[in-house]
Amino acid sequence: MKKRLLTGLQPSGDLHIGNYFGALKPFVDIYERHESFLMVADYHALTSKIEPTELRQNILNIVRSYVAIGVDPSKAVIFKQSDVQEHTELAWIFNCLVTVPFLMQGHAYKDKVAKGLEPNAGLFTYPMLMAADILLYDTDIVPVGQDQRQHIEYAREAAAKFNGAFGETFKEPQELILKSVGTVPGIDGEKMSKSYKNTIPLFGTKDEIAKAVMSIVTDSSGERPEHVYAIHTLYRGEDELAARYEEKKGNYKELKEMLIEDIDAYIAPMRERHDAITDEEVKRILKDGREKARTIASVKMVDVREKIGVSL
Ligand code: ADP
Ligand code: TRP
Repeated sequence: MKKRLLTGLQPSGDLHIGNYFGALKPFVDIYERHESFLMVADYHALTSKIEPTELRQNILNIVRSYVAIGVDPSKAVIFKQSDVQEHTELAWIFNCLVTVPFLMQGHAYKDKVAKGLEPNAGLFTYPMLMAADILLYDTDIVPVGQDQRQHIEYAREAAAKFNGAFGETFKEPQELILKSVGTVPGIDGEKMSKSYKNTIPLFGTKDEIAKAVMSIVTDSSGERPEHVYAIHTLYRGEDELAARYEEKKGNYKELKEMLIEDIDAYIAPMRERHDAITDEEVKRILKDGREKARTIASVKMVDVREKIGVSL
């Protein structure tokens, strides 16, 4: 039996290299060996204020990105969360099983509120929608970045709570977090994030990449610009890099130019593919994914409704 792999990204803005190395590449590297699901978490994106026209465009772009980085739609189910109503339905049931103090421990919630985001109720209960995304498909493995670790724990907790109350129904998933990537730093040295405006865009033009790289903050106390180096290790082996950085010691401009060239060379073929995918192709992919995802999710929910006592 193949294991089930599932991950999702929010269509809340342009993807950046942190999303790619933290979540997408780990998925692409192994998805063909598993039964794989790649979701567009569009209902999660509603937790941050977003214009409908922008959301629509972001959804199209994120699916383009999935295909451009190498996910073959015939080998993975690419689908949109809002197309499978069972996700929000199950999230409600989980919301009724967990307590407010439990959700209050959420790091992501606390961080976002501390950064000035509106604490809407959706943001607060977000982990239960994510738990539903994962558990509906009996997911075994969830490739994500370090910041999502607690959300996978929450999904396990939701599964355990439900199973304890109503009998064995959900499988407890495991996160897949690559140590070599951890948290990709942004140009300000903090975690790279769409919401912090400190990103290197994944499909940016060479000029956009250059602009972002040139503004990476450099710590003048040491001879090696650590943030530049940390990002560079995603593109080149450490042995080779250490030697190059030693050779160009203190010459931050040249080191940054080298990084720009490396990022651009890596992304150029993917960028070309990204720009060539039409809206019609994206819609076809999502339609196909929707049917496959619904088939699985609807069977699971029949069982859930039966167990909780709402099916007569
Ligand atoms: P963002 O913080 O930019 O809004 P998301 O929360 O949409 O990103 O994250 C999508 C996926 O990308 C998640 O699996 C997340 O862990 C991963 N990710 C986001 N930022 C980083 C980062 N700086 N380093 C590693 N992984 C990241
Ligand atoms: N919360 C995730 C993020 O912001 C996105 C997400 C939603 C997700 N549902 C998921 C990731 C299910 C993995 C599995 O990055």
